[in-house]
Amino acid sequence: MILVTGGAGYIGSHTVKALKAARFQPIIFDNFSTGHRSFVKGTPAFEGDLCKPDDLAGVFSKYAIDGVLHFAGRALVGESTEKPELYYETNVLGGLNLLNAMKQYGVKYLIFSSTCATYGIPDTVPIRENHLQNPINPYGDSKLAFERALRWFHEAHGLEYLSLRYFNAAGADAEGEFGEDHTPETHLIPLVLHAAAGRREEARIFGTDYPTPDGTCLRDYIHVSDLAGAHVVGLQALMNGTVQSQAINLGTGRGCSVREIIETVRRVTGRDFQVRETPRRPGDPPVLVAAVDRASELLGWTATESDPENLVRTAWNWMLSKP
Ligand code: UFG
Repeated sequence: MILVTGGAGYIGSHTVKALKAARFQPIIFDNFSTGHRSFVKGTPAFEGDLCKPDDLAGVFSKYAIDGVLHFAGRALVGESTEKPELYYETNVLGGLNLLNAMKQYGVKYLIFSSTCATYGIPDTVPIRENHLQNPINPYGDSKLAFERALRWFHEAHGLEYLSLRYFNAAGADAEGEFGEDHTPETHLIPLVLHAAAGRREEARIFGTDYPTPDGTCLRDYIHVSDLAGAHVVGLQALMNGTVQSQAINLGTGRGCSVREIIETVRRVTGRDFQVRETPRRPGDPPVLVAAVDRASELLGWTATESDPENLVRTAWNWMLSKP
């Protein structure tokens, strides 16, 4: 079986679905603090907390686990700057508890949800995996600390791992089973869709004076179902021994501006809404775009569902399906 920590969360739920389609047997481990019980949908699930070693011992002793996909963690940049202790506790200490349980129960394979936030403000774009990692917030730093622990568990204990560094995850399941549902919501696409749906007064652009073609930040938006697919091929490659333990970027290699997202939302939804230009949000790098050749060379994976239209359309359908 494949243990999926955070399997009731946004990216975890999509990946559980992809695992089942590939004939793996997932088991969800989630404390449901931000995960949704409605996302479990009949998959075996174990309610537990990474920060409680006994909970981990409970799931590892009950099920025959062959590998772990590790999504559980905290992921709000703003919150991390106010409460760094929460980020080191969950993302580093909780992660170490997981690694210790894996070691104790002889589980060798792990795929970790890492992030482009481990790079900080890049010197060169597209960002290659060997770019200096110099995070500018505790969220990115906690993810980097765990990446480093993985490397040394590999050297010392033979752990085989991939750190998948996601760029900007977006979109929703094409069949409408899952989607993005964060409280509070801080991400661009859902916020703009809220404005289009009239659930929010306006969409906001954080900064129009960036050194980019239209003055707004460029991001590499990657569809959550593409991310899910990458986890499945990554796990297969790791278990077959066809990929070495390392970090791999997951993105499209293309940058999309805040204004382009807003235009796409207008086109796809057919709704008009107010847009307000505000000063920059502190800590936003102007451009984050992935170099994606490692994923395609080593895993044979490229994004196929991540054009902005599809990101926005699937996210919009998901939003409309909820009250
Ligand atoms: N933005 C706006 N208006 C908004 C919200 C966002 O203009 O209302 C802009 C941001 O300034 C940024 C872009 O839209 O330029 C995307 O912002 P998001 O908040 O959607 O995502 P981030 O790029 O900040 O993503 C970062 C890291 C990820 C990390 C994520 C965690 O790059 O690695 O935060 O929340 F996973």
